[in-house]
Amino acid sequence: EVWNPSGKYRVVSTKSMPGARWIRLLTDNDCRLEICTDPKTILSVDDILALIGDRCDGIIGQLTEDWGEVLFSALKRAGGTAFSNMAVGYNNVDVEAANRNGIAVGNTPGVLTETTAELAASLTLSAARRIVEADQFMRAGLYEGWLPHLFVGNLLKGQTVGVIGAGRIGSAYARMMIEGFKMNLIYYDLYQATRLEKFVTAYGQFLKANGEQPVTWKRAATMEDVLREADVISLHPVLDKTTYHLINPERLAIMKKEAVLVNASRGPVIDELALVEHLKANPMFRVGLDVFEDEPYMKPGLADMKNAVVVPHIASASKWTREGMATLAALNVLACHLQSFRGQQLI
Ligand code: DGY
Repeated sequence: EVWNPSGKYRVVSTKSMPGARWIRLLTDNDCRLEICTDPKTILSVDDILALIGDRCDGIIGQLTEDWGEVLFSALKRAGGTAFSNMAVGYNNVDVEAANRNGIAVGNTPGVLTETTAELAASLTLSAARRIVEADQFMRAGLYEGWLPHLFVGNLLKGQTVGVIGAGRIGSAYARMMIEGFKMNLIYYDLYQATRLEKFVTAYGQFLKANGEQPVTWKRAATMEDVLREADVISLHPVLDKTTYHLINPERLAIMKKEAVLVNASRGPVIDELALVEHLKANPMFRVGLDVFEDEPYMKPGLADMKNAVVVPHIASASKWTREGMATLAALNVLACHLQSFRGQQLI
């Protein structure tokens, strides 16, 4: 699909993206935009090489693609200067290879903070209150009437939410759980989450002034402290060598037997096979997963676990956010491209 065929700069998008604003932004700025219409969900390196061709000024890619030396050197040869990842995470991008080839890299932070945090909160509630199990039970025609033991789950109020990685998304999630469900906070991060701490302190004072039990917060010295103490644990680190299999058998073993674990960051942060074993051995332990170690697959056994809620990497999937991500992805291409070709500073 080609937009503005006479545009001076050739920009390629490996996927069609939501909304029209991103298309207008590029075409209004003298770009000829080519949107790949290959129906394959995931494009291979060879597919993308063909898209880059002999001439490509900038390209918008997806988190499912492997952006390394091969693609960046091809983009350089094609005269390109900009690669824009339509995602906040960029573990699929070899930034050093991009630097070596003089390609600027963009990502899309900010517009997906609340949407992703809301999905993590949804997974928390779904897992804690066994929503998916109960839904399947209803649809299977098994409901015979109210029973004292039917789908008993965990109450969140007054429990402790543990956040690992208190950046933008982790902090937004923490605020939702604290304000929405009056949970106490324990978090682990290399950096101090000062704004989050101030929020919990102020909210605790507000509750106290209104005669309610105040919420509390604690910055944990180690990740293990969070795993041991929290009733709900949500993972929000970036994926890199240091966070690969952050949740391993030893760390699973120190969590509470009835804890809820949520992951809307990146799949390889959890050793998924170890998680399946843990779920089998601990039926009251529950997980909510948006991401998986080998997407689009789940490790054997996970699909059979009733104590797991699984959704297909949809944390940022709200209309507003996806249109915002597309817009930001286009702006990033323009920013890099205009700077290098016209010597202009956009921002
Ligand atoms: C991201 O942006 O990194 C998410 O995983 C998809 O929105």
